[in-house]
Amino acid sequence: MQLTVLSGAGISAESGVPTFRDVETGLWAKVDPYEISSAQGWSRHPEKVWAWYLWRHNLMQGVEPNSGHRAVAAWQDHAEVHVVTQNVDNLHERAGSERVYHLHGSLFEFRCDRCQREYVGRLPDMPEPVETMPPPECQCGGLIRPNVVWFGEPLPDTAWQKSVDAVNNADVVIVVGTSSIVYPAAGLPELALANGIPVIEVNPERTPLSDAATVTVRESAAGALPTLLQRLPSLLG
Ligand code: APR
Repeated sequence: MQLTVLSGAGISAESGVPTFRDVETGLWAKVDPYEISSAQGWSRHPEKVWAWYLWRHNLMQGVEPNSGHRAVAAWQDHAEVHVVTQNVDNLHERAGSERVYHLHGSLFEFRCDRCQREYVGRLPDMPEPVETMPPPECQCGGLIRPNVVWFGEPLPDTAWQKSVDAVNNADVVIVVGTSSIVYPAAGLPELALANGIPVIEVNPERTPLSDAATVTVRESAAGALPTLLQRLPSLLG
């Protein structure tokens, strides 16, 4: 059996990583999203964007995968599991998932914004968030940026193609912890449903996918995922 998981920030929420759109705790509650997560923001204020992403990079060092990530990794003992994630953290990998496709890039990879060469140099510490910090410079004179996908930028081809294949070849698609509003990622569950592949949504809140999903589990990731595999036959009827 092939399981394809499409995850968003909500699966990392119970690891203590704020989601994007939870206003009271969301990271964006404190910053202007278009100042921070867009190519324009980078070209206008690289030192502001660098400081915010470096803080998030360091924040991730202090968090652990939760029982939701671990459940997804454990499913590999029973099925072929492909994880398509919008998250830029590495918690799925740290929990043991072997096939993880990052549609929006990774906070753990950096590159030059001019020659695109991978940056493997030392990163400055940042125990507390600061408003601005000049990004490191590349030998070519370009600036070092996080290898994340900003609004207005294309998704990585390989990750996208692997994600589409993983959805098309799935027996079940499990969509967990995403508001399902950012395309093209949000189009993947629709692709599954159009091909008659059952889609299970795991989210404590309603989303635009909820009405179309085959099954909606109104629970948290860490609460629902550890028993979801055993529940599949009864959920799908
Ligand atoms: N378990 C499961 N879902 C949860 C939990 C939890 N414990 N806590 C919150 N959620 C749900 C919220 O109800 C919401 O639907 O997770 C979702 C988080 O939504 P967003 O903050 O919009 O995050 P995401 O869907 O990953 O955002 C998609 O948008 O900002 C861009 O590139 C960014 O990858 C991101 C993309």
